[in-house]
Amino acid sequence: MEKSSPQSRSSTRRNFLHTAAASGALGVLPWSRAVHAAGSDMVKIALSGCGGRGTGALADALSNSVGGNVQLIALHDAFGDRIENCLRAISARFPDKVDVPPDRRFTDLDGYQHLTETGADIILDCSPPGFRPMHFEHYVQAGKHVFMEKPLAVDAPGFRRMLAANEQAKAKGLRVAVGHHLRHELKHKEMISRIWNGEIGRITHLRVYFNSSGVWVRPRKPDQTEMQYQVNNWYYFTWLSGDHIVEQHVHDLDVMNWMMGNRHPVTAQGLGGRQFRVGKDYGEIFDHHAVEFTYEDGTKGFSYCRHIPGCWDSFSEHAHGTKGFVSIEGHGHAIIQVEGRDPVRVERGPDGHGLEWDDFLKAHLNGEAYNEVDHTILGTMTAILGRMATYSGQIVTWDEAVASQLDLSPSGYTWDAEPQPKPGPDGIYPCAMPGQTKAY
Ligand SMILES: NC(=O)c1ccc[n+]([C@@H]2O[C@H](COP(=O)([O-])OP(=O)(O)OC[C@H]3O[C@@H](n4cnc5c(N)ncnc54)[C@H](O)[C@@H]3O)[C@@H](O)[C@H]2O)c1
Repeated sequence: MEKSSPQSRSSTRRNFLHTAAASGALGVLPWSRAVHAAGSDMVKIALSGCGGRGTGALADALSNSVGGNVQLIALHDAFGDRIENCLRAISARFPDKVDVPPDRRFTDLDGYQHLTETGADIILDCSPPGFRPMHFEHYVQAGKHVFMEKPLAVDAPGFRRMLAANEQAKAKGLRVAVGHHLRHELKHKEMISRIWNGEIGRITHLRVYFNSSGVWVRPRKPDQTEMQYQVNNWYYFTWLSGDHIVEQHVHDLDVMNWMMGNRHPVTAQGLGGRQFRVGKDYGEIFDHHAVEFTYEDGTKGFSYCRHIPGCWDSFSEHAHGTKGFVSIEGHGHAIIQVEGRDPVRVERGPDGHGLEWDDFLKAHLNGEAYNEVDHTILGTMTAILGRMATYSGQIVTWDEAVASQLDLSPSGYTWDAEPQPKPGPDGIYPCAMPGQTKAY
């Protein structure tokens, strides 16, 4: 794990170059058209998880701006209707880039294993995060390049499995992208470069937010097993989503660590609970978390995420330093204000969801090394650490969190397996209780 410090100017620059290359942060890498023009340039792609992001990420891949001739050849989803919906939407938009006959459409929880037998070059994984380590291990074992969504795990055992599988991926020369699109947004790259160059001085504290009114709910249907119900309504179960601090706020926590030189906090303490989302369709997760993270050099990172309608919403990251500050809107502009200078405003530019595919495909077409797990997995573990702090109400250290044996997995991965969360007689699932729930 990288230990560079943006607080130290000399090491800052060196590490930025190293890290920027890994995250595509240096912008356009030299791209050899000769490789692309050589003929056998079709990039076959298969998707697991055909929901909102899966369909969106496919569209980003198929409409890439680097001339990659991407073709969709196989689909997997736990539920067959999602495959058909995705196929309809993608075929309507990209009729010449879709070839998914019925025998390359796979359902149920083990269908991802068949994707690697289809001749796909790249597996795109947009399934719920709880499945990510298991799916990634399989893709790596089968020697496939992978583009997978964040977060990378929901608990510490999953984090360790991811790290181990990623080492194997690197040893096999596999390219691995992670859907942290903010790492590819031009205004994020510019602002973080300015922070690392010392323009706002030494960072004193950071603030990051993902406050919104929340996401979809998928109520229980007749005849569903408990496993089918939880997997369908996956957002509301910690073993599947990690809670929204992990599933969504991971974007901002990853940027916070990036601002700090791709370092992770060493402790966390926080508050959280559920106040608005208390009905039986809301599973066990909290609807708000507020965490104070502390880095090794004492710098504080304040993190807030909320899923309650009618409140102040923000998706943004802010770094305050001894000479000024940087504020970045997730999907808006960014500003740097330095003492004695006029503020500089940078507009958003192209959407990072498209840029992340351009960067990945350029590396793929050029046969270059590409690995985004190394840095972004710290964001996943930071979010898990934050959740451990809010669920328990204790101060939790990074080392305790990473070593945790608390495994959230169900008894197996079949429709009759037993997930750990159980509803009470009123259909309501118990949630964590600070002061009583064990941290790790
Ligand atoms: N980077 C981003 O901007 C961004 C935006 C949205 C979502 N995401 C991420 O994408 C992932 C999916 O989110 P979404 O919004 O598309 O959710 P979604 O519910 O719309 O899609 C998830 C799909 O996965 C399917 N699924 C469930 N279990 C599965 C399994 N074991 N194997 C394969 N498929 C399975 C579901 O049936 C569903 O169709 C999450 O990790 C989420 O954090 C990222």
